Amino acid sequence: METCRRITVTAVAALAVTFLWIAPAEAQPSSDPRIEELLSKMTLEEKLGQLLQYTSAQPEIEKLAGEGAVGCVFNFAGAAVTNELQRIAIEESRLGIPLLFAHDVIHGYRTIFPIPPGIASTWSPELAELSARVAAKEARAAGVRWTFAPMVDIARDPRWGRIAESSGEDPFLGSAMAAAYVRGFQGDDLSSDNSVLACAKHFVAYGAAEAGRDYNSVDISERTLRQVYLPPFKAAVDAGVRTIMTAFNSLNGVPATASAELFQSILRDEWKFEGFVDSDYQAIAQLIPHGVAGTPQEAALKAIRAGVDMDMVDGSYATLAEAVRDGTLPVEVVDRSVRRVLQAKIDLGLFEKPYTDVEREGSVLFAAEHLAAARRVAEKSIVLLKNEGGLLPISRTVKSIAVIGPLSDSKADMLGSWHADGKPEEAVAILEAIRSRVSSSTRLIHAEGTGIIDSRPEGISAAVGAAESAEIVVLVLGEAGKMSGEAKSRAYLGLPGDQQQLLEAVMATGKPVVLVAMSGRPLTIEWAAENVPAILWPWFPGTQAGHVIADVLFGDVNPSGKLPVSFPRTVGQIPIYHSHLPTGRPADPEKIYTSKYLDVPNTPLYPFGHGLSYTSFRYEDLKSSVGDGVVTVSASVTNSGKRAGEEIVQLYVNDPVASISRPVKELKGFQRISLAPGEKRIVSFTIKREDLRFWSDGGWMFEPGMFRVWIGPSSAEGLEGSFELNE
Ligand code: NOJ
Repeated sequence: METCRRITVTAVAALAVTFLWIAPAEAQPSSDPRIEELLSKMTLEEKLGQLLQYTSAQPEIEKLAGEGAVGCVFNFAGAAVTNELQRIAIEESRLGIPLLFAHDVIHGYRTIFPIPPGIASTWSPELAELSARVAAKEARAAGVRWTFAPMVDIARDPRWGRIAESSGEDPFLGSAMAAAYVRGFQGDDLSSDNSVLACAKHFVAYGAAEAGRDYNSVDISERTLRQVYLPPFKAAVDAGVRTIMTAFNSLNGVPATASAELFQSILRDEWKFEGFVDSDYQAIAQLIPHGVAGTPQEAALKAIRAGVDMDMVDGSYATLAEAVRDGTLPVEVVDRSVRRVLQAKIDLGLFEKPYTDVEREGSVLFAAEHLAAARRVAEKSIVLLKNEGGLLPISRTVKSIAVIGPLSDSKADMLGSWHADGKPEEAVAILEAIRSRVSSSTRLIHAEGTGIIDSRPEGISAAVGAAESAEIVVLVLGEAGKMSGEAKSRAYLGLPGDQQQLLEAVMATGKPVVLVAMSGRPLTIEWAAENVPAILWPWFPGTQAGHVIADVLFGDVNPSGKLPVSFPRTVGQIPIYHSHLPTGRPADPEKIYTSKYLDVPNTPLYPFGHGLSYTSFRYEDLKSSVGDGVVTVSASVTNSGKRAGEEIVQLYVNDPVASISRPVKELKGFQRISLAPGEKRIVSFTIKREDLRFWSDGGWMFEPGMFRVWIGPSSAEGLEGSFELNE
């Protein structure tokens, strides 16, 4: 009897878990009477149609639109194309509900900005916001109302190709960027001609894929989830993001797309998110290979019960009609999701203004002011990794210059991955920009050297000849633009193909070499770091690539970007990031049994926050004071060089004794400042108790005591001090 009662209790609990997700408040009618009116008229199929999203490749998409059997489409762009499908939805479907047009507008629509790690290298939320604003304006002019961006996944593994869509390894920087992108895409008024819905993706921890292999499973502690992977999403929600996309991965054994814990408990109950959740591409159907559903309907039930409102592409939600009819799924659950989608359509002004002005499209796309914005952002995104002997900048009157490498004359690669409607022919190649800069007496020699991936041994000897005949060499190497992004994991992170051979052959000429290395992820360039005197890391700067790289090479722009991610020396160090935990046996070269490698130092090749300038900055006078529970930490920063420059001043803290191990250093503030030669500025930061909290026993806690603090130019350098903060 006793056993029996226990089973009953368990069964009731299980039922509660199954049904509790319909929190009464959520089943409440919307405050917008238009939604209730529509809902009262909609058939079940029409309701589910609002939750189905298809691509332009979907067969008979026009028919579906005309039947009201689809609510959202993506990969359709251009005012004329979107208007035509919209016309069908409005004029031919029974209720005339407009379609929502979505697109992956990741770092620009037609005017392409640097890829996200490049934008993050500016450490400027204002510039990130500007890039998103321009992207939103262009996308909207082309009929797009919703972008699948920003991607706010923390990325600490450069094997993972999608690091190219991220703001890098750090939750503090990542959160600032996430909020900025949301503000930029959505603006203050969603119905304006300059706004689109933003989508924070991929919820959550997608960047922690085991072994850096895309779509792979993720197993992390709740503390890591809370402290590292969730904060940028929280920042996006606080900034008002209207949609969230699920992640493909399983998290601690539960596929994210079926996780009520993520979408109901955290996103809605804790964070009060009111927008709608989209599945990633076929992620609902993929609950079957994940091994948590046997049929499309089971998968659909799991997803909608978890709180996923929209089904991207796989059509599984169509099977929910039968589940509602046979009583498996209360129709209120469907209504709840439909309300959220209709609310977004109303807020976008789609009912009043479903079409896009075709003439306006022409004047908005690739407008001169957008190019200027892209150039401004790109200028500040380039990272100068090394500049031995002040080899850079190059004099414009240099007698001869050899521009070598498979990326030196490429346009398409400059756009990186996911470049929406960006046109390769509109991008500026490095070679053409250099040609336009050098004086008429400068001899410019060009050699491709080798392919990005394919071998061209004869090309290497031609490149050596070119280098030998020049006074200085600019060598442009790296990955193809599309070697990073989705499904682009790599296990070897050296220069692809024969490029290392090309590099060594050119270096062997003894000529001064500037390496311009481009890629969507950190590469392991230890040999270059040791042997090449000057290295620029421009990521993929977008449409204006050639111009900004030439500006930096010739000193028209003083580089100021800083790395948003640590560069490993070798793949064996991955994951490597600045805010790692201490160990009980810190590395000590004198002691065998300490935490280190036999064959490589523990330190990264280039640390998080690193980036040089053509001027120099001196840090002095670290001071801290505590008043009213707020700590003020300051330092003076002086431009100690001969030219004006911008510096990104960084603040790090560490809690040396706490109830749990705390990271050796954590970024807690940054400021980009501009200083004339000789100019000095006091840079101050405030730290509150909440900035020092950590996740423990199911909640955030602050522990009083002594904290170490640094202000400096990177995570590896800076002035050190301490402060005490009590309850
Ligand atoms: C799959 C990707 O994971 C996601 O980021 C993207 O937005 C969708 N495909 C749509 O293209």
